[in-house]
Amino acid sequence: MAIQTVGIVGAGTMGNGIAQACAVSGINVVMVDISEAAVQKGLATVAASLDRLIKKEKLTEADKTAALGRIQVSTSYDELKSANLVIEAATENQEIKIKILKQLDEMLGSDVIVATNTSSISITQLAAVTGRADRFIGMHFFNPVPMMALVEIIVGLQTSDATRDAVKALAERLGKTPIIVKNAPGFVVNRILVPMINEAFFVLAEGLASAEDIDAGMKLGCNQPIGPLALADMIGLDVCLAVMEVYLKEFGDSKYRPCPLLKEMVAAGRLGRKSGAGVYTY
Ligand SMILES: NC(=O)c1ccc[n+]([C@@H]2O[C@H](COP(=O)([O-])OP(=O)(O)OC[C@H]3O[C@@H](n4cnc5c(N)ncnc54)[C@H](O)[C@@H]3O)[C@@H](O)[C@H]2O)c1
Repeated sequence: MAIQTVGIVGAGTMGNGIAQACAVSGINVVMVDISEAAVQKGLATVAASLDRLIKKEKLTEADKTAALGRIQVSTSYDELKSANLVIEAATENQEIKIKILKQLDEMLGSDVIVATNTSSISITQLAAVTGRADRFIGMHFFNPVPMMALVEIIVGLQTSDATRDAVKALAERLGKTPIIVKNAPGFVVNRILVPMINEAFFVLAEGLASAEDIDAGMKLGCNQPIGPLALADMIGLDVCLAVMEVYLKEFGDSKYRPCPLLKEMVAAGRLGRKSGAGVYTY
C-alpha cells in the first residue's frame, strides 16, 4: 500500500518536524493536537523552518508554498480518518499515549498502521493496548527531524514484517536512513549514547581529566561532533539520569548505575543549558 497521507498526533517539537519532513517529500499530512494554539504553533514552526531552508538556498518559495499546502491541521481526531498511517508524537507519558492509541484504534480502518515516536516506552507494551499489534511499530525520529538522517524502526514482539517494510519504505521516502531494531529499553542509539555520557561523568568524578579535556578527547579522538559532557548539558542532566535509572531497573544490571556526580548535579538543579548551568555554565 502506497502511503499518501500521514496522520500525526501532537504538533510539538517532534510532531511538527515529522510533518515538515513528510510535506517536503510530497506526502499529505493531517496533524492534530489538543488546542488550536498548539496546532497553529506547530504550523508556524514548520513555516519558519522552511524559511531558513530558503535562505540557505535548499528550497524555493514555491517548494515552501507546496509543502505548507500539504499540511492540514486540526483539533479533531476525525480528520485522521483519511490517513494511511498515523504517527503518535504526543507528550512522553504512558497514560496519555495509551489513551490516544485506544482512541485511534477504535476509529481508524483495520488496514491503517499506527506508529509511535516514543523515546522510552516499550513498543510491545503499547502495541498490546491496541487491537492491531501486528500493525503497530516504533518510528523513532531524532531532533531536529528535518536535519537528522536517522529513523530507528522498532519492531515489537508482534509487529508484522509487512508493517516493518511499509514503515521502512516511508522513512526512505522522507530521505531518511532507517535502521531496524528489536524492542528493548533505549532501543539502540540511546542505549549506547546515554551510558557513554554516564561514563564521562565517572571519568570527570574520578578526576582523570577536566571536562574540557574529556570533551576534546571524544571529539578529536572519536570524531564526535560534540563531547559527551557538552551533549549532556544539551539533553538535560535530569533526562540522562532518568534514562539510566530506567536501564538499571529494566535490565537489573549494575553496569547501568547512574554516576553519583550526575545525581549530585541534578539534585543541585544543575540540569544543563535549560537551567543556565550543568557541567558548563551558560
Ligand atoms: N524532543 C526530542 O528530542 C525527542 C526525540 C525523539 C523522540 N521524542 C519523543 O517524541 C514525542 C513528542 O515529544 P516532543 O519533544 O515533540 O514533545 P512536545 O512537548 O514538544 O510536544 C508534545 C505535543 O503533544 C501534544 N499532546 C498532548 N496530549 C495530546 C493528545 N491527547 N492528543 C494530541 N496531542 C497531544 C501536546 O499538546 C504537545 O503539543 C515523545 O514521545 C518524545 O519522547 C522526542
